[in-house]
Amino acid sequence: MTESDAFVFFGATGDLASKQIFPALQRLIVRHQFNKPIIGLARSILTLDDLRARARASLEAHGGVDPEGFARLAKLLQFVNGDYNDPETFRKLRAALGNAKRPLYYLAIPPAAFETVIQGLATCGCGEGARVVLEKPFGRDLESAQMLNRSLHRCFPESSIFRIDHYLGKEPVLNLLYFRFANSFMEPNWNNRAIRRVQVTMAEAFGVEGRGRFYEEVGAIRDVVENHLLEIVALLTMEPPSREHADAMRDAKRRAFEAMQPIAPSELVRGQFRGYRQEKGVAPDSNVETFAALRLHIDSDRWKGVPFYIRAGKELPVTATEIRVDFKMAAHPMFDACEDRNANYIRFRLSPSVTISIGARTKLPGEKMVGKHVELLLTQAAADEMTPYERLLGDALEGDQSLFVREDEVEAAWRIVQPVLDLPAPVEEYEQQSWGPASAERLIDGWTNPTV
Ligand code: BG6
Repeated sequence: MTESDAFVFFGATGDLASKQIFPALQRLIVRHQFNKPIIGLARSILTLDDLRARARASLEAHGGVDPEGFARLAKLLQFVNGDYNDPETFRKLRAALGNAKRPLYYLAIPPAAFETVIQGLATCGCGEGARVVLEKPFGRDLESAQMLNRSLHRCFPESSIFRIDHYLGKEPVLNLLYFRFANSFMEPNWNNRAIRRVQVTMAEAFGVEGRGRFYEEVGAIRDVVENHLLEIVALLTMEPPSREHADAMRDAKRRAFEAMQPIAPSELVRGQFRGYRQEKGVAPDSNVETFAALRLHIDSDRWKGVPFYIRAGKELPVTATEIRVDFKMAAHPMFDACEDRNANYIRFRLSPSVTISIGARTKLPGEKMVGKHVELLLTQAAADEMTPYERLLGDALEGDQSLFVREDEVEAAWRIVQPVLDLPAPVEEYEQQSWGPASAERLIDGWTNPTV
């Protein structure tokens, strides 16, 4: 794999650049000695000094300024001002690229502008030898995802397209994958003979945080279920990849997506927190969901009969993302074990802290054969050592696609949610800091709510 020889980002003054790209670039410079040209494009500022000031302000707000790292970043930084509809912008970019032959383009812009930029890159000859990075959501349904893929392919082969789902760059998500395949006790128990049900909960104790306009276009299903949470289910359920190769892993995930049955509208509950309609940028009669709970079935020998429960929501009581895998009870439970149906489980806490733990029962000291529930903590860490964007940008610059989403995976994931996008269940209001509408309870015999 050849390394990219320049980093170009469209949307240099946007939210994503400020929160993720500048901090990741500074870390790549400090920790990995990144030293290639960095070119930002935007039209709302005029000079390179403006962009440097933006970069500093971004770092002050997100992660901190490293004096030496920032000095190097400021030196590598170049700026191209212009409108993406104007061919002159791309001519200026071509000139700024100088001798660079393998630039990496990061489209940190709204999806509506993707097509224009891709077209601009193609017509000025900037696309050749290049890689492109784009952010989820990749389209807003199956049809638009297919259209986006077609327009990307007009300029870039699939091997040069890097679709970011930052969950795939998270340390605990990689640990989940590692834990599954590095431990021999897992495989014989990782199936419908041993497992009763799986819950994936992504709870956020905050609302849309000023992103009302964006959120109105997506809602919880498009924002986090179709991508982050289904990716997690794919990693949990896929067959072992045949080898450690980007495509082996992505083939295995694609097959996992294909085994997931499209979600039936009757198995989905949509909610909206009270007060959402008063948020800036939100329609006063909005029907967009800020909460979704659903039951998913997987049609494979390994998983047939094991329900997967997925839940995501804003303004819930805690901020925590957790996977809980409940094992079946013994056919003839002994002692008092039959009193605790959920005694045996594996719990993966993905955020804010990182935990892998196993639930079990042990005997209480004394005459009687009675026990108590215990949780064995296998790993616990405060937060990621490496941020997802640092990892993913580094991988994209090196051309490693393992942690990026391939075209066929994206389309397979949209097929799963398409029925509930076509026929959305009515949206039910829920109180802030509650676990969503009461009707979510009908999907399952008792959710296990993460605690902090
Ligand atoms: C983003 C969503 O993709 O993921 C946000 O657009 C959500 O709505 C965020 O809050 C959660 O990411 P993390 O890494 O904080 O769990």
